[in-house]
Amino acid sequence: MIPAMPQPPDELLTPRLRLRPLAQGDAPAIFAHYASDPQVTRLLPWAPHADVHVTQAFVAARLAERARGESWPFVLERRADGRLLGLLQLRLEQGVARLGYVLERPSWGRGLMTEAVRAVVDWCRAQPELVRITALVDPHNDASARVLERCGLRCEGHVARGGPHGDTRVDVLSYAWGRPALPPDAPRVIDLDHVQLPMPPGGLPAARAFWCGLLGLVEVPRPPALTREGAWFVRGAVRIHVGAEAAFTPPRRAHPALRVAGFDALLARLRAAGHELRPAEDLDGARRAHVADPFGNVVELIEG
Ligand SMILES: CC(C)(COP(=O)(O)OP(=O)(O)OC[C@H]1O[C@@H](n2cnc3c(N)ncnc32)[C@H](O)[C@@H]1OP(=O)(O)O)[C@@H](O)C(=O)NCCC(=O)NCCS
Repeated sequence: MIPAMPQPPDELLTPRLRLRPLAQGDAPAIFAHYASDPQVTRLLPWAPHADVHVTQAFVAARLAERARGESWPFVLERRADGRLLGLLQLRLEQGVARLGYVLERPSWGRGLMTEAVRAVVDWCRAQPELVRITALVDPHNDASARVLERCGLRCEGHVARGGPHGDTRVDVLSYAWGRPALPPDAPRVIDLDHVQLPMPPGGLPAARAFWCGLLGLVEVPRPPALTREGAWFVRGAVRIHVGAEAAFTPPRRAHPALRVAGFDALLARLRAAGHELRPAEDLDGARRAHVADPFGNVVELIEG
């Protein structure tokens, strides 16, 4: 049996933010600060609000959900001056916490949403009844993906048509944290964490040009304890680590295989950058090709 859902606190405090319950009177500030801004809603499932009445109806709907015990909308208020900066919505259902959040544009890039999401994730993780925390992210929303990763959620994969978007549905990345279900000492493989690829010493600039410049991954910092030459590249659930080997020889057969969108355009981009491509036979109807990275490591590309 799924236990009763815990009741979130009315207020959560972080160093710079107060997360407090949404109120009907917040509608004008929500409209003015972010809900009418098309840059803010660009990667969200809803269109910018055309006027404050839309925001008022939106707030009323969220408050009705809260009254039914379905969701907890927290206003993000700046502690220094009480300014409303955004909203974080927490839905609790059958042991699962779902997160959605939005921040006004002038406050982006200062770690504020990481701070807010971390506070809510920490609270969720401290509730034994909650076994899973999840959020859906537009595949182009790198900043949001990063926020979730920094708060301990991992990308589970690309969900075709997994998220609502106006009247239609769009592809999303599913991010989640799950409470281990088995005794913690029961041995089992739970996930693919990363793929390590070798490179010759001094290969970092070429590795960056390939993985970031051509394949569109983002380089993320490595733990300071890793001092040998190398780099970590991430996109959604794909994690590639490259590391220098003094006596480098590329593996003959071993390779990572990546599903890619825009297959033909990507192949053209790689070809234009001088990478040799070898077509491979289709598998399950999907086209495939092999490309060598700058050092001769083979990477398989599969049409997504
Ligand atoms: C996504 C959003 C919530 C991020 O809030 P924020 O307070 O600016 O995020 P933070 O400053 O806490 O962290 C952003 C992280 O993403 C990184 N980042 C920002 N833009 C990026 C980009 N274009 N590519 C890769 N990483 C990016 C930042 O460097 C930072 O990571 P770091 O701390 O490791 O350097 C905010 O931009 C927003 O509200 N956007 C519109 C609504 C939205 O997209 N909501 C999320 C729906 S799932």
